[in-house]
Amino acid sequence: MTPQIEVVFQPHGKRAEFPPGVTVMEAAQALGVDISSLCGGKGKCGKCKVRVLGGDGTVSEPSDKELKHLSEEEIRDGFRLACTTRLGASTVIHVPLRSRIGRQRLQTGGLEIPVKLDPLVKKYRVTMPPPHLRDSRADEDRLLASLTEQHGLPELGIDFDVYRSLPNIVREANWDATAVVWKDRIIALEAGDTSDSCFGLAVDVGTTKLAGFLIDLKRGEVVAVAARMNPQIPFGEDVMSRVSHIMNGGWDALEKLQDAVVSGVNEIIVECCGEADARPEEIYELNFGGNTVMQ
Ligand code: FES
Repeated sequence: MTPQIEVVFQPHGKRAEFPPGVTVMEAAQALGVDISSLCGGKGKCGKCKVRVLGGDGTVSEPSDKELKHLSEEEIRDGFRLACTTRLGASTVIHVPLRSRIGRQRLQTGGLEIPVKLDPLVKKYRVTMPPPHLRDSRADEDRLLASLTEQHGLPELGIDFDVYRSLPNIVREANWDATAVVWKDRIIALEAGDTSDSCFGLAVDVGTTKLAGFLIDLKRGEVVAVAARMNPQIPFGEDVMSRVSHIMNGGWDALEKLQDAVVSGVNEIIVECCGEADARPEEIYELNFGGNTVMQ
């Protein structure tokens, strides 16, 4: 096994082990440390200056690109470009304030236009007669017939996962359940009456900002809002820098960018649910708006 080196970022206090030869930027991205990167790590913008503390003799020599952006005094003080500097031994990296993307005030308010509430996802509480000698219908037939009788729904499709869990759920719930219907399909079946909790999440995936709006689909109200900087920023501050980062780094880079945005959305879900006292499983529909590069 290749011996690992430990990289510590200050003042964040984040640390992890990496293989020798890792660039400071790669380590920062893996740890979610925000370092400005206007050119997407090509050594062109000079925005990613960091101070390398220690690791003498094991850090790569300043490249021509670095020499263009760093003064002699900065090099003497240990400043380097994070995207081109490779580390050969355990090192502490200080990220100065000017190189951090930092937290910003995020605008999440907007104009709310009244719309007629007609969500694609609806919940229906349904009670079913238990089987007996003269009623030996299959569970799914019993469920569909009860939904038609009690809510006037036409025959619906049933998702495979619902088929699998249906026998257990209806018996455990004593034949009293809630069907979650998306368009003309049952996408979930829940024990008891859960018809009051039905949420959707709208996410604005911006170049710099992710904003999530948790919407109560039963009442048509925005019940929680959460926002954070787009975690893809360390890979490039604008869309074109991120595209070129992927073109240079291939599938691996693409996967990292996707992981970054997915983890940002997951954090937003947790935050919104905490604020609205909802559970992530009660979000039945997600809508995203954004440049497809960011997906
Ligand atoms: S010089 Fe632009 S990210 Fe390093």
